[in-house]
Amino acid sequence: MKQKRATAIAPANIAFIKYWGVRDTTRTLPYNGSISMNLDACLTTTTVTFDENLTRDEITLTFYQQAPHLATGVARERVVVHLERLRALAGTDCYAKVISSNNFPSDAGIASSAAGFAALTRAGVAALGLELDERQLSLLARRSGSGSACRSIPSGYVEWYLPSTEFDLVQWDQASYAKSIAQPEHWDLTDVVAVVDTNAKKIGSAENHRLATSSPYFATRLAEIPDRLAAVREAIVQRDFTKLGQAMEADAVSMHAVCMTSHPPSFYWNGGTMNIIHAVRSWRSEGLEAYFTIDAGPNVHVICETADSEVVAQQLRQLPGVEFTIANMVGKGTRLEEPTTPDVE
Ligand code: DP6
Repeated sequence: MKQKRATAIAPANIAFIKYWGVRDTTRTLPYNGSISMNLDACLTTTTVTFDENLTRDEITLTFYQQAPHLATGVARERVVVHLERLRALAGTDCYAKVISSNNFPSDAGIASSAAGFAALTRAGVAALGLELDERQLSLLARRSGSGSACRSIPSGYVEWYLPSTEFDLVQWDQASYAKSIAQPEHWDLTDVVAVVDTNAKKIGSAENHRLATSSPYFATRLAEIPDRLAAVREAIVQRDFTKLGQAMEADAVSMHAVCMTSHPPSFYWNGGTMNIIHAVRSWRSEGLEAYFTIDAGPNVHVICETADSEVVAQQLRQLPGVEFTIANMVGKGTRLEEPTTPDVE
């Protein structure tokens, strides 16, 4: 029996400037560039085994604090479509067994699919013996449909660049990938995730990426983004926390304003989310510098300098609605866990 197996570990990432709105769904091309940091404690571990004896792909997922289950429906379909991409690159039709587990709540605004598709891409590519560089891995992870997965491939602080507007979609497809701005050691920041809801979100980002352009504020958001991207880039390079925090919060509010004014609208925040927003703003006025950002879910990411992270976490846990916190320092990118075993008899 011929098997080809590899295991990869990928971090979730939190966007300081959000990817929101999809320009081309087939290739997962965004309207705007985005910047994130990888989370060192929110990880997906995925093992992919291509096995000639399989008659279909078998996908087993283990979500946070749940028993493993066989993926069905859309979740299965998304993985199978990505496996097809990998198989096409390697010129094989061999089915795969995929075993993937998350150590953090899935689908609740902690970029679980970004980590999932980055790990699937890295492990699948290694199992098939393909030699791809970081740029090619990032491009491939982006095409999974979970665009932000491309930012989980490189290490540390990462930017997903927007290619030249003169390019056509095929050129964009080759040029839209993510690269490190700085390595994790460059700046000691912590993302304290305050979990106010561990349930899956009701509306997936895919649908809302399509709806974004229906908001009258979408054009305003796009016009503002180049300045915010420049501010965040500079803030990272100069380690200027105030500059980073102000641009980051403004961008989160702008993304959610677009969600709330799309047709139909989406409201991701709950009461616990609002409690945290008010608290973080009031801590700042008292001298504890922290900033919030929120992805497509109710949980809040509170970014602070690592020296303040324990105080921030303790204070967050006292707020009504906060179930628990997860502290993440800046993480490495996606990596292989063990050497590939090309032929296991
Ligand atoms: C709000 O389509 O990349 O997190 O919905 O997890 O598949 P999934 O991710 P994706 O959308 C990400 C949206 C965002 C902002 C961001 O991470 O840039």
